[in-house]
Amino acid sequence: MKALLVGAGAREHILAEKLSRSALLYSIMAAPHPGISRLSKEFLVHDPTDAAVVGEWAQSRKIDIAFVSPDGLLAKGVTDTFADMGIPVASPLKKAAQIEWDKGYARNLMISHKIAGCPEIKIAKDFGEARAAIKEMGNVAIKPLGLTGGKGVKIMGEHLNSEEEAIAYCSTLLEKDGSVLLEEKLEGEEFTLQAFCDGQNLSLMPPVQDHKRAFEGDVGPNTGGMGAYSTGNLLPFMQQKDLEAAKEIMQATIDAMRKERNPFTGVLYGQFMLTSKGVKVIEFNARFGDPEAMNVLTLLKTDLAEIFASMAEGKLKAPSFSNNSTVVKYLVPDGYPDAGKAGLEISLNEKEIWNLGAKAYWGAVYEKEGRIYTSTSRAAAVVAQAPTLEEAESKAEHATSFVRGPLWHRRDIGTRELIKKRMEHVRRLKG
Ligand code: AMP
Ligand code: GLY
Repeated sequence: MKALLVGAGAREHILAEKLSRSALLYSIMAAPHPGISRLSKEFLVHDPTDAAVVGEWAQSRKIDIAFVSPDGLLAKGVTDTFADMGIPVASPLKKAAQIEWDKGYARNLMISHKIAGCPEIKIAKDFGEARAAIKEMGNVAIKPLGLTGGKGVKIMGEHLNSEEEAIAYCSTLLEKDGSVLLEEKLEGEEFTLQAFCDGQNLSLMPPVQDHKRAFEGDVGPNTGGMGAYSTGNLLPFMQQKDLEAAKEIMQATIDAMRKERNPFTGVLYGQFMLTSKGVKVIEFNARFGDPEAMNVLTLLKTDLAEIFASMAEGKLKAPSFSNNSTVVKYLVPDGYPDAGKAGLEISLNEKEIWNLGAKAYWGAVYEKEGRIYTSTSRAAAVVAQAPTLEEAESKAEHATSFVRGPLWHRRDIGTRELIKKRMEHVRRLKG
């Protein structure tokens, strides 16, 4: 089988590794990625949104299955380029990816189909509406409707310290976008649930907890995600009924999309919050999470190229996963997330990391004359799996010492202390 992967970060690096196990890998990336290029039979460095060039390149290589990975490219319809040529695709068309690139679409779909787990929301179109909504709703989360790389959401009482600050942020977004989404501020523990979908059926991957805040102890600005852990079938603070509730919400969502003649084929990512009133939806994404992809794909036992092919065919092959625990830690350049320094030389000792039983994947880096340099974002990830979370965490932490350069990471991800804090939080919420 010839599999085409579009995108180039750490999430795509593990996708490339899994696909290249059984398929011949072809990849398209905007800038050369040191890991994916080495795994590829052939790669094209070109703007993936240039439909004429990438379409012709894929067609002449007789690709059997294509997968477009990053949100920005899904929103620009890169999957459609291949689908229009009759190439089977396992990622969503632009129209279906709207579940991610338009938060208004996602919320309205939930409301009109009476899908559980939707917080109270208001889409304001002008300053007066935004102000009235804040007065009425109290503490809210303020969000742009479009894609923001996880960094555009501001929460009252966390990032915004007064009603005035909240209203001011609304006006910034209104000026830029002409609308702003206000959501009831939820309190609880977040988890990620990813599922393979074939338009009709879905199959869950193990739940994962990401860490959005930049600094240890969950403080500082939001990031794309500093690292994540998983512990088999459930996270330590979850019960089986929470997983079932989240699964039902995801199934109801793809059912609703199918009814609206917008079937979702791809990886559906549900970000949930476990609150005192049950499981609520924070957002949906139309792709794997980054870093969460590295947790789940590390555990995947079924061949990924075969799963993708079955999704494209509308006959989802149910995957199986090992129930080990996993820990992923991202190493990021000095100055990240506000002003990550680009052009810093970094290196990793793959053999030492391998000897530990861990792995490393390159993120936002570029290669020049055989050396690797940072761009401004998350540079490299280490991943470890083990029968217990403690072992996985300690292996991952040890592995970070073999990634060299002016980088830093959160040491607390997956540690016993942080997990204890999560469990106590949920216990407190439930009274
Ligand atoms: P998003 O980009 O929608 O994933 O939001 C980024 C982060 O903001 C989430 O991971 C949550 O921590 C937080 N957040 C988003 N929506 C809400 C909400 N309604 N209530 C509380 N926190 C939220
Ligand atoms: N880790 C969060 C995301 O991929 O959106």
